[in-house]
Amino acid sequence: MSPAIGATVARVDGRAKVSGAARYSGEIPLTNLAHAVLIGAPVASGRIAAIDCSEAQRAGGVLAVLSHLNLPKVAAQPSLLPSLAGMAAPGQSFFPMQDDTVHYAGQHVAVVVADTLERAEHAATLVRIDYQQSSPTTLIDQARDQAYVPQKIFGGLLPGQDARGDVEAGLKQAEIRIDATYRFAANHHNPIEPSTTTAEWDDSGRLTVYDSTQGPTATQMTLAQLLGMPPAMIKVVSHFVGGSFGSKAMIWPHAALAALAARHVRRPVRLALSREQMFTSCGHREEQEHVVTLGATADGRLTALRHHKLSVTSHFDDWAEPSLQSAAIMYACPNYEGVYRLIRGNTNTPTFMRAPGEASGMFGLETAIDELAERVGVDPVELRLRNFTETDPATGDPWSSCGLRECYQRGMELFGWSGRDSRPGRRREGNWLIGTGMAAAAYPHAQPVNPQRARARIYLDGSVVVEAGVSEFGTGVTTAMTQVAADGLGAALEQVRFLGGSTDLPNITAAVGSAGAGATSAAVHLAVTALRQQLIGLAVSDEKSPLHGADPAGVIVEGGRMCRRDRPEAGEAYAELLQRHMLPDLEAVSNWIPPAQDAGHGMHTFGAQFAEVGVDADLGLIRVRRLVGVFAPGRVLNRATAHSQLMGGMIWGLSQALQEATRMDARSGRWANASLADYLVPVNADAPDVVVDTVEVLEDVVNPLGVKGVGEIGIVGVAAAIANAVYHATGYRARHLPITLEDLLPRPA
Ligand code: MOS
Repeated sequence: MSPAIGATVARVDGRAKVSGAARYSGEIPLTNLAHAVLIGAPVASGRIAAIDCSEAQRAGGVLAVLSHLNLPKVAAQPSLLPSLAGMAAPGQSFFPMQDDTVHYAGQHVAVVVADTLERAEHAATLVRIDYQQSSPTTLIDQARDQAYVPQKIFGGLLPGQDARGDVEAGLKQAEIRIDATYRFAANHHNPIEPSTTTAEWDDSGRLTVYDSTQGPTATQMTLAQLLGMPPAMIKVVSHFVGGSFGSKAMIWPHAALAALAARHVRRPVRLALSREQMFTSCGHREEQEHVVTLGATADGRLTALRHHKLSVTSHFDDWAEPSLQSAAIMYACPNYEGVYRLIRGNTNTPTFMRAPGEASGMFGLETAIDELAERVGVDPVELRLRNFTETDPATGDPWSSCGLRECYQRGMELFGWSGRDSRPGRRREGNWLIGTGMAAAAYPHAQPVNPQRARARIYLDGSVVVEAGVSEFGTGVTTAMTQVAADGLGAALEQVRFLGGSTDLPNITAAVGSAGAGATSAAVHLAVTALRQQLIGLAVSDEKSPLHGADPAGVIVEGGRMCRRDRPEAGEAYAELLQRHMLPDLEAVSNWIPPAQDAGHGMHTFGAQFAEVGVDADLGLIRVRRLVGVFAPGRVLNRATAHSQLMGGMIWGLSQALQEATRMDARSGRWANASLADYLVPVNADAPDVVVDTVEVLEDVVNPLGVKGVGEIGIVGVAAAIANAVYHATGYRARHLPITLEDLLPRPA
């Protein structure tokens, strides 16, 4: 492999982003643009008794007020399927404004369209809506007795329960037993760019939508389903997306409402969610409770592992973030049982968020394992090694690649773990109680279930354009794909331009579940490989080429030219070849068919997290002093952007551990802190010294370049490492997130 892949390359779109040249969905300049403002229900359960729009309609600049009384019905009720399936991916199988029912607070009940945003916002305050309310259910504690085990969760992709061996027998065998219940506050994504859709119809009935989305095709297919249109009549563009974290992975109703509003007023319409609306319009990580039971021998070998999860879903979907996939495979335990239980409540359907599932699931497991290590009296890393599994314990299949041992080893070295006194409450610096903790990380590697495509085209001046319809929401995919293309053609980075973010380009499934880099790099690699083979084939069969008659397998590419491996001076530049053949360009389109998820290998990404915390002995204040994370994500495409993603993930882990919580007002069924003033996320002053490293392991199963992705694994295990460090510092075992200073205030004697 030539050097561009894996190198540190500055973001090719960095200048556009920092100079403001990058255009986001809310910044597309369209003539005659109108603005839509959503009105959300202030009640969480009930029905709309009356709507009076007369005053709003008379207000200056108002073009329309749409509600269930006059909005055209959608063509089909959406059906829930996660966006990684590559099909229509509505965030929930309920579409608002079809009748008078209200299922959750913030549910869209009306849309006001006006010629300016300010006039639309003003008119929205003039719409009078009367509600008949009933009392809402929004919290686990309100309806614990109504929990059920769903057949399937996660859009039908995963079973509601799963088991191997005999957990009861394994618990009877156990000499040590750990029983612990973990509670998690609801969380919201809070990307910097609120979701925005700008919709424009042309005279021939074609719809162009500029959308903040992780998958332009997912938006296109969802709109086609909801509007009853052929996908060919819908173009979705998304060149830059200002962060997402899962909030733009599924396609939420506002996107279709923007298109419907634009059709109604016969003008292009922009619809941007407000910050507050981001808390009720594009999903969240649900409040949840996990019960973890471990059985182990006296020397700490697991005999049983039971992990149950309870959470609240909407009235219309069986959604639970899949928190138990890593617990099921993390350790060599013969007896396992994982069960999801759900409560129907007055909420929109929860959704993917930052390592969906495992960021919470691995917290319960990895703090329980820390407790077990203490009971056994062994170092927490040593306990994990005693339960290390060389194969996928669910199937007996080998791992596609693992690297977990190497992550533990490297993490211990970087952190300075060895020689740790495991007894809690022993280290003190002034008023700070100091502790260290660690946890394992794992995240399932999700393969797309359908073909992934890219197009590579070289022009007669030697410049290259590579295209694939992937979204850039800060991941660095644009830069990494430029590197993959440059390597495949032996071209300089400056010669290559990668274009993404449009349904006019070859299809890539939504970049979710850490699958974007693997899927897109596979498609791009195959496209540039096919193009290179075409170019070499043309040269070796051309009497005028210095490569005439050469064995194609003996031709290498570098510096924008082809040459013989054994005689590098015998060769020519791409540009020469194309000009001689009077070819303005040459192109190849790839069609990568991913290997099936269950075709003989366990596919997961592994890592290890280490944390040092200080806890103020009087004030309970918790400061994370150091984080070290080491990961084995297969091939790293760009050291700088991968490092950024992993570090960002780790800081989000700190955030999950100590800051993030959306609090519910149970009487009203409304979120009580739906703003960035009241929903805490880390600022630079909260972020400690973060050390990120990766270990190289051979990965030749998941995709051609062996890329497992780094989008999720960075956060997994961080909260457990921090909670374990808090225990080590203080002797207080946190079994809920976030951990706050109130938990650590000294108790009066
Ligand atoms: Mo990611 S949270 O699966 O979009």
